[in-house]
Order: sequence, then C-alpha cells, then structure tokens
Amino acid sequence: MCGIVGYVGRNADDRALEVVMEGLARLEYRGYDSAGVALVTDAGILSDKRAGKLENLRKALARQPLAPSRTAIGHTRWATHGGPTDENAHPHHGGEGDRLALIHNGIIENFHALKNELLADGVEFTSETDTEVAAKLVGREYDRTGDLTAAMRAVVNRLEGAFTLLAVHADSPGVVVGARRNSPLVVGVGDGEFFLGSDVAAFIGYTRNAVELGQDQIVTITPDGYAVTDFAGNPAAGRGYEVTWDASAAEKGGFATFMEKEIHDQPQAVADTLLGRFDEDGCLVLDEVRISEEDLRRITRITIVACGTAAYAGMVAKYAIEHWTRIPVEVALAHEFRYCDPIVDETTLVVSISQSGETMDTLMAVKHANELGALTLSICNTHGSTIPRESDAVLYTHAGPEIAVASTKAFLAQITASYILGLYLAQLRGETYADDAREVMAELRQIPAKIEDLLGRMDRVKEIAYFMADSRAVLFLGRHVGFPVALEGALKLKELAYIHAEGFAAGELKHGPIALIEPGQPVFIVVPAPDTPHELHKKVVSNIQEIRARGARTIVIAEDGDEDVVPFANEVIRVPQTAPLLAPLLAVVPLQVFALHLSTAKDLDVDQPRNLAKSVTVE
Ligand code: M6R
Repeated sequence: MCGIVGYVGRNADDRALEVVMEGLARLEYRGYDSAGVALVTDAGILSDKRAGKLENLRKALARQPLAPSRTAIGHTRWATHGGPTDENAHPHHGGEGDRLALIHNGIIENFHALKNELLADGVEFTSETDTEVAAKLVGREYDRTGDLTAAMRAVVNRLEGAFTLLAVHADSPGVVVGARRNSPLVVGVGDGEFFLGSDVAAFIGYTRNAVELGQDQIVTITPDGYAVTDFAGNPAAGRGYEVTWDASAAEKGGFATFMEKEIHDQPQAVADTLLGRFDEDGCLVLDEVRISEEDLRRITRITIVACGTAAYAGMVAKYAIEHWTRIPVEVALAHEFRYCDPIVDETTLVVSISQSGETMDTLMAVKHANELGALTLSICNTHGSTIPRESDAVLYTHAGPEIAVASTKAFLAQITASYILGLYLAQLRGETYADDAREVMAELRQIPAKIEDLLGRMDRVKEIAYFMADSRAVLFLGRHVGFPVALEGALKLKELAYIHAEGFAAGELKHGPIALIEPGQPVFIVVPAPDTPHELHKKVVSNIQEIRARGARTIVIAEDGDEDVVPFANEVIRVPQTAPLLAPLLAVVPLQVFALHLSTAKDLDVDQPRNLAKSVTVE
C-alpha cells in the first residue's frame, strides 16, 4: 500500500531529490500517512521523514534543504505496523553509524522473531515497524560484506510475507538495490539514469521505458545500468515494455481533483478498452493468453474474484456472461474465496478483476485458484503488475492511470472488458452468433458518446449533492444490473463523503430494509429500461411508490423518455437509452458525480479519503 521510489543518475545537475519527490507525488495515492526520503551524499546519508501528507515533508525540506545528490530513495506510507508518526515513517536506518537507509512496502510476517534476535544482540530500535528490522539486518550484512546487493540477498531469504525493499548505503554512492516478493517493483530505464518505482507513475515524467521484475528478484541500479538476479543470486531478466501513456495522463488536466478528471476520462476509457479487440473473423484478441480455445470451450463454470468496486464490476459481469454464454458465474469477494473451500477444478475459469493488479486479497485468490488447477484470467488496468503475471490469460482494460483512491473509470473499463470476455466465450462455444455479438458491440461503441452526453447534464446532480451535504444516511436501490450499480453508488458515498450509505436489491426492500424509511430519507433508485425483460421496470416503479408512500425523498435515475417514474420521483436524473445489460455504464455516472460533489461540499479530500489507500497490498 506504500509507494516507493529509487533513483540513480550521472547527470551533473544532481537532481535525485527532485526526481524522488516528483515520484512520491505521483505515488501518494498508494498511501499518505507519512513520507520520507534518504539521499546518499558526500556527508553520508541525509534523510528527512514526516508524518502526514507529502506536503509536510515538502515544507520541512524547504525549511531545511538537504545537500544535492545523485542517489536517493523515497517513500510514502500507508501504516500497517506502528501508527502514522515521524518515528515510524520510512526510511529506517541500520548498520554501523546508521549508514544504511531502507524503505519497504508490504508486511514482514516473521518480524517479531527477527526483532527478538536483534534485540538479544543489543540492537536498538527507534520505531514500531517491521521495516526497521529489515533495515537493521541489511545494515549488519553490509557491514560484513561491503556489498549492498549481497547484503540484500542474505536478508530477503530470511523474510516471510510480502515486501518490496529498497536500500542505499553511504559507502556505495550511485547504487540503489531493490528486492521484491508479492509486492510490485518496476525499473525505469533512462539515459544515464535509472529509476525504481512501485509503478511506472513513479518515473513517467522521465522515461517510458520500463522493466517489470519477476517474483523473488533483486535488482541493482547504477548510472551505468541495471542488473537482476533471483534470490539465490542467479542472473535473471526482467520483461521490458514501453508505457503507452505519458505524464499528462497522470495529471489533473485542469480539473480540481483527479477524481473529477477521471470521471471525465470515462468515455475514452471505454473506447480504448474496446479498441482492436476483434480480428477480421470477429474473434476476440486477448492481450496475453496461455489458455487454448479448446480449454475455454470446456469450461463448466466461471468464478469471478475481486474486491470493492472491482467486485461490483464482477456482479455486472455475472448477469451479462450468464445471459450470453449460459455458463454459471459466481462472484466471490477475493478475501473470502480461499476460505470457503471453493469448488474449482480444471474446467473452472477463475476471472480476477483488479485495477491495480496488486490487491493482495485478489492475488492470493488467483494463486489459490492456480493451485486448484483452474484456468485463470485477469482483467487488469496495470501492465506489468503481479496479478496478470500470475494468471494464464490477461485482458487489459485501457483506462489509463487511475490516481484518485475512489475508482471510477476503472469500473467502467472493467465492465466493458467483462462484456468483451462474455461475448468472446459465447462466440467460441457457439452459444451466440457473430450477428448478436456484433449488435452488442455496435451498441457498446455508442457508449462513449452517451457518457459524454451524460457528463454534460450533471449540473442538477451537483446541486442535489450540495443540497444534501448534511445527510446522515442515504440508501441506493437497484435491480438486475442496477443492483451492483446501487452498491457502487453507496460505496462511493461512504468512502468519499463518510456518510452512512447502503445499497439494496430493490426486491429485498420489503424483506426488512423498508423499516429504515422515514419521512425525508433520501433514496436513489436505479430504474431499469422500460424494455427490460420480466417487467422489471414496472416492478421497480412499484418499489418507488412503496417507499414514497412512507415519506422517502426519491431521486430516480431513469432513461430518457421514461415517463412512468415521474409521478413518484422528487428528482429525476436522466440517462441516455441503451441495451438493458449495458445500462450500468451510464447509470453509475450520476452516482459518481453525486459523491464527488457531496465530498467537495463537505470540504473533504476527494482524491485521498481518510484511512484508505489506492492499492491494498496487505491481506
Ligand atoms: O486495484 P483493485 O481494483 O484490485 O482494487 C480493489 C478495491 O480495493 C477498490 O476497487 C476499492 O474498493 C476502491 N477504493 C473503490 O473506490
């Protein structure tokens, strides 16, 4: 959940601190409990670290600047072991005279045993973190060997859990050593300068040439190049690739917040995710696939594993994939999957959905599925991340970098990718025909323009949000694919505006939740299109009447032209018409905009809500 950056360069302008601070600013979404840097200088290691957001560190450095350097590491933290204090902020130090500095992302599970061992040797600690244990161990090994890479290797083999570690030593200027297990680390290749980052955003302002490291690898960067080994010291190679987006994609582009910008990126995110998916025979082109068509034809069930917003995308996928393929689809919260003794075998396709590709719960679910012999497919937004690498096949969403902690454009891209997967499987198995698939694809291609149109109509939603800034509880109702949309609307409001919000399947209301309705209770209702099968539209209109009769304030999201809802709505928010299964791509947009403005109205931090981090890399 933390963000880490490393840099070495031979440039005469000694810009290590500038590069690392810029990288931290781009990675701050990963955690913002504290931030710190360490520079290798002629005067030894110079370090500063501060609790709170990066801005606190920036101010401290402005008050007391550090000497110029060409070698640096930096860290932005989401606290796990030890509270968000200056002492617990990274870097941590080790070795004789504290001449080693180390930063860490992840959790070292056996740190208690290692710490006891060090305490018995008289080592003193200044923090409550697991990281400081690694710093002391690497420092001690360095004092023995004088070789930072060897020191790192000796220590990582003793650590259990998930970690990315970066270390520098005062006696090794021009060297940063990194190691990774179950936690991300990417190398950036510049001209006479090399970078390390939790993801490419760390160095995108300087280079688009990246190298993805494999599991259990160590990398050493110097101004002359980088060298990769495995944990045993055998030479290894990373996988080089070019980042397809540039620094501007990770900036606010004139919007007040990343979230607002990312909401406006959604037409492009959907369009890009659809791009180039089908060959001239109408067959889907997966980005990476190590599953034969024959195996895909043999699938008897699909299990989707994901967390949070990605799990709601999975719930939408269930309706579409089951409808098009007739394959039973189950959606499991990734953190529950392993513990429910899942029924999974070699005819099960386990589809993981993850924006970051690093969510530990989802990663562990994928690993468990692999162990059980399932076929695994990852729908992911982040090239080079761990989950796609652990999966047999990958379908990348092309939403571009999502910086705001609250997921928006990734959600739409995930749903879009799920539709593509469903259509592809249906076609492969002969359940649906090229003509049907083409029809859905044609409608999908209209979606970006419809989202654009919808974004132009959000003034009233903004007004409603400001009007509702004092709300204590908000309910969201939906049916069919509108149900996960309701859940997502509630999640957005909880995480952004800290308001109690619940999403319900509208049919469930009379089985209990209707007791919550009292005069003035605001309720959003996602109404299915009038032509949705099984008279669902009529049933939801009845649900609206039921709650309205009990005094609820009804805010209805309904298609253009749906007049049936008007008599029972305090507010009607119109969305463009589309096919019933594709409706979530539109219906969720007003709910995102509502949460964004309600958070703004309450003067909260839209991009970095309290207690959260973008990538949840701990279980
Ligand atoms: O990176 P992932 O898609 O795996 O992340 C999953 C969830 O942590 C994420 O969707 C989370 O729920 C968002 N903050 C919701 O806005």
